[in-house]
Amino acid sequence: MTAVGHEEPEAPVGGAQAEEAPLSPFASGHTLDPCSLVIFGVTGDLTTRKLIPALYDLACHGVLPEAFTIVGYGRKPLDDGSFQTMLSQAIDDFYGEDGVEGACCRRILRAPRYVQGAFDDLEGYRQLAATLDEIEGRAATGGNRAFYLATPPSLFGTIIGKLGESGLARRGAFDGVSAGAAGQGWTRLVIEKPFGRDLQTARDLNAFVDTVFDERQVYRIDHYLAKETVQNLIVFRFANGIFEPIWNRRYVDHVQITAAETLGVEHRGPYYEETGALRDMITPHLVQLFTLVAMEPPVTFGADAVRDEKVKVLRALRPISPDHVDQYAVRGQYVEGVVDGQSVPGYRSEEQVSPTSQVETYAAIKVLIDNWRWQGVPFYVRTGKRMAKRVSEIAIQFKRPPFALFRAAGQSETEIGPNVLVMRVQPDEGFSLSVESKVPGQEISLQTVEMEYAYGSALTELPFSAYETVLIDLMEGDGTLFNRGDQVEEAWRGVDPILEAWQTTPAHGVPTYEAGSWGPEAADALIARDGRSWRRP
Ligand code: BG6
Repeated sequence: MTAVGHEEPEAPVGGAQAEEAPLSPFASGHTLDPCSLVIFGVTGDLTTRKLIPALYDLACHGVLPEAFTIVGYGRKPLDDGSFQTMLSQAIDDFYGEDGVEGACCRRILRAPRYVQGAFDDLEGYRQLAATLDEIEGRAATGGNRAFYLATPPSLFGTIIGKLGESGLARRGAFDGVSAGAAGQGWTRLVIEKPFGRDLQTARDLNAFVDTVFDERQVYRIDHYLAKETVQNLIVFRFANGIFEPIWNRRYVDHVQITAAETLGVEHRGPYYEETGALRDMITPHLVQLFTLVAMEPPVTFGADAVRDEKVKVLRALRPISPDHVDQYAVRGQYVEGVVDGQSVPGYRSEEQVSPTSQVETYAAIKVLIDNWRWQGVPFYVRTGKRMAKRVSEIAIQFKRPPFALFRAAGQSETEIGPNVLVMRVQPDEGFSLSVESKVPGQEISLQTVEMEYAYGSALTELPFSAYETVLIDLMEGDGTLFNRGDQVEEAWRGVDPILEAWQTTPAHGVPTYEAGSWGPEAADALIARDGRSWRRP
């Protein structure tokens, strides 16, 4: 994250580039460490829809190191040639055949390798080790290896265990020169979300990972943290003098964090049936966003300094008592409706979803932080599939002026619009601040106007997608945007009472909401009890 100085973001994503002169978006001109990237779960959705397109784009930007090899590991019987075809198909599917630049493809698909093996079969891992040795014998990867777990979470423990047993983990080799590396290069482990199902399972998994890898080798992914506006939030808060003095309970009324999607569960029914909105979006992604809004200024911009401050916020969360979960959390499940003009089925009619499923596709929670800065300022966090609009944003609503100076103009205190600072994560990335202004003319009449900073017009384009940023940071060894073990556990601690209540009180059933709406009525009631309402961005 630190090294990405995109001063001239000009490379078109997926566009044509001359092979001879790839653009480097690094201000310093440095490149990433060479390495082998071993992907477990190569045939899955995540690999084909996110990882491979991201790698392709990095190749187009000229960021990928010269010595870089993708190694797939999986149960499917594939040879290196058909693996290569599969990867190139994923690129075509994502960018459209005509948009794909052959030179970029050649850069990442030069000689991918595939090792067939069961995830619990030690022999497969021995073959993987032999394949990596062979690659390192002829390519200058410096012995650097990243193991990327893009499998269902139920396999994480098995794979990590076998990486340990086979000696592939090389415990302690976090930066290539550390004691564990013994001059053999670095070894890093990337774990996709969700990390555990609740506090206990996250603790167990952390404890197990700890027996095999050093924490500094572990990269727990949260691709949301790598989104451009989210990264900019840190700069926005701490590189400007004007916000910090008002960033507290004296001036902030409340905060709303929204991640609304118009998509349903697509082909991920089995995954979603085990996960639900709270585990899928709130614990891994949105909890992390509000820690960035709420944290104290870190002493440096280093990974541990930032993560230390985030953990402190999570430790200050007011615990939710099991008897009062209804006052802090609401869930919902979509029924059929209309999204973007198209009729769509309800969740229970989706592919591979139980017709009696109680899984939530919407979740809203109210979070209180018991510390000096935030005492009494609620953070409302919501997410949902099949909502009215695709929008992710963080909105900081400030307190209204203390009295109505403009009463004569027909405005009481409550009619004056509050100042709201909105950080738009996607789409239309940018910032806006709403302020009250005079309508031009003889009369004193007020109107709300927006001061906007849109990335689309200020920059020609966003240089990297979230997954590209995550891959860059992995190859640089920068853990700032990844979750540390204690962070993940604290996030689970916050939502555990909700999970428990929802699991043990199925009699209430899950409230429903129409696809294409803004969620269940109970969510409106949750915030209305505090005299507030959800934004309709
Ligand atoms: C993933 C969730 O982590 O994030 C998905 O598993 C969700 O359910 C996705 O759709 C949203 O991320 P993005 O970057 O597509 O907004």
